[in-house]
Order: sequence, then C-alpha cells, then structure tokens
Amino acid sequence: MSRIHEALKKAEQERAASQGGAAPPSYTNTPVADEPVFSDSPAAASSPAGTAAHLGMPAFASPLTIDTLLARCPQTEWTPDMTTMLFMNGDDSARGTEEFRTLRSRLYHLREKMTLKTLLVTSALPKEGKSFISANLAQVIVRQHGRRVLLIDADLRGPRLQQMLGTTPGPGLSDYLQGRNDEFSIIQRGPMENFFFMPSGTGIADPAELVGNGRLKILLQRLEPLFDWIIMDSPPAIPVSDASILAKACDGVLMVVRSNVTPSDVARKARLEFPDQALVGVVLNGTSGDETPYARYYYESYQKKATTTKA
Ligand SMILES: Nc1ncnc2c1ncn2[C@@H]1O[C@H](COP(=O)(O)OP(=O)(O)OP(=O)(O)O)[C@@H](O)[C@H]1O
Ligand SMILES: [Mg+2]
Repeated sequence: MSRIHEALKKAEQERAASQGGAAPPSYTNTPVADEPVFSDSPAAASSPAGTAAHLGMPAFASPLTIDTLLARCPQTEWTPDMTTMLFMNGDDSARGTEEFRTLRSRLYHLREKMTLKTLLVTSALPKEGKSFISANLAQVIVRQHGRRVLLIDADLRGPRLQQMLGTTPGPGLSDYLQGRNDEFSIIQRGPMENFFFMPSGTGIADPAELVGNGRLKILLQRLEPLFDWIIMDSPPAIPVSDASILAKACDGVLMVVRSNVTPSDVARKARLEFPDQALVGVVLNGTSGDETPYARYYYESYQKKATTTKA
C-alpha cells in the first residue's frame, strides 16, 4: 500500500511540476472583500446586463435587516392632511374607513392564491384617486397588528403623497435610482408604527427612463423581505409609460377608476397597458349615492390568477 501511495504522490508532484507548479484551487480561503464593490470600474462594462454590477450598483451588498432599517431610516415629523388620510387620527371608525378594510381583506384573500407583496396602484387618467387609494390602503394594512408596510411614491412626474402625509419630498426614489442615495436615506419612518414611506425624490427630466433602468427591481428585491406589503403610487397609465414599466417590477396592479369621470373606453385602454396576470383588481372610486364624502370608493372586482411572474 505504501508503494502505491508513494507512486501516486510522485505522479502528482510530476503533474504539478509540468503545470508550472500551480497550486490547486482553494475554495475555503477565498478572500472576501469587506466593502461593497462599486462597479463604476471598467469591469461594469463587461458585466451581464441587468445585474447590479452592470447597473453601476454595488456588485454585492449585505442583506438589509429590519434592525438596520429602524436604526438608520430618518424618523421624520409628519403633519398629515387629516381630511384625506383617514387612519392617521387613530379613529378607525371614521367615515370611509370600512371600504378600505374591505379592500384589505380582498387583497389578503387574493394573496392566498398568488404571490402578492408589491402592489402598483394606477389609473388611466390624472386625478382619479391613485394617491388617495394607495396612501389609505397602506395605512389600513398597518392598522393590523404587526403588519409592516412601505408606501412608495413612484409618481416621479406629479408626486402628491408627501403633501398628503405632510412630510418632505426627498431624498427619495429618484435619488436612489440615480445612484445618489442608499436605501436608508430615502425611507422615512412616520408617526404610525410599522408605516414607512419612500418619497419620489428630486425631480428629474426623464422619469420613464429612470424607472426602467433596472435599479428599481434590485431595490424592491432588497426591501421585500422586510415588509408585508409594498404599495406603490404611480402616474396615470394612458399619457405616459411609467406605470406599465413599474408594473413589471411588481406582483400586481390595482387599477383605480373614478366613478362618472373615467370614460369606459379610456379605462379599457388603460387596462391593456398591463398584462392579464398583473391586474388584480379595480377600485371604483367616488361612487355617488352616499351622503358621506369618503364612502365614495368601492372595490368592485378582481381577477383571480394562481400565479404571477415578475419581469
Ligand atoms: N374617494 C375620495 N373621497 C374624497 N376625496 C378624494 C377621493 N378620491 C380622491 N379624492 C381627492 O381627489 C383629489 C385627486 O386625488 P388623487 O390625488 O389621489 O388622484 P391621483 O389619481 O393620484 O391624481 P394624479 O394623477 O394627479 O396623481 C385629491 O384632492 C384627493 O384627496
Ligand atoms: Mg397621484
């Protein structure tokens, strides 16, 4: 046995010598960089498209945790518009709140059948209630014990959520997408526990280009594990393409239709902007026939799909 062992050893030494003495690969002592590698370096140019490195982002970054988020996100003073932010005054029996509880339970019901965490709220035209619905939907979810929600103002053209919530418009999403800010500096913690808000950020010239640059998807992938829901407000779908681009990074789309305002052919056209599997429901906002100002939205219908896939 020892002669065989010696023969094998000799053969190995001869092979190593013939290969110039190269050491065998080691998988245990590979040096690990301490800091994220930012790929402004020429290497980024040769990285596969759609990867973080290709996008000039950290080639790798440690996973986010809720503890780091809580420690590093700025706690800001908010002065919400109490006439439209229905859950901010702590009175869960206020007018209009019941409709949002119904919407919430429909969405949870739907979530039993499909992957549904990132939800885009959009509509065909301006002023149909997208921001109103997304902000109050986020709040009604947070009212449930232990539910953590991130509300994102992805309407980079006409952001309104910061006004409704009474907070600052930036830094926010556009700053992250341009590589100017990290996740922590663009997410605000408000007065409600478990309610986080990402404003739209600094105004930019070409929002569609920016939301489609691939960084949004990476941002959402990093944030998803920390939240029960991510609700995203968006611009109207007919005049600009942002919403359909944003939808590709989300699990589902909730479409708002303003009662007696949105022409039906326009609503149908907007619906075509989204692939079938992405449209999870339609909110009929501002239904008449009720004395109360806020009992005017109504969750009308939703499509049932077993699964959705993100682009
Ligand atoms: N159901 C509702 N009850 C009371 N006020 C509402 C309702 N829906 C919307 N509003 C009000 O109507 C106005 C337009 O709503 P909102 O800003 O949510 O629309 P939008 O679709 O987000 O508009 P834009 O396309 O300009 O972003 C706001 O002042 C909002 O508070
Ligand atoms: Mg809006």
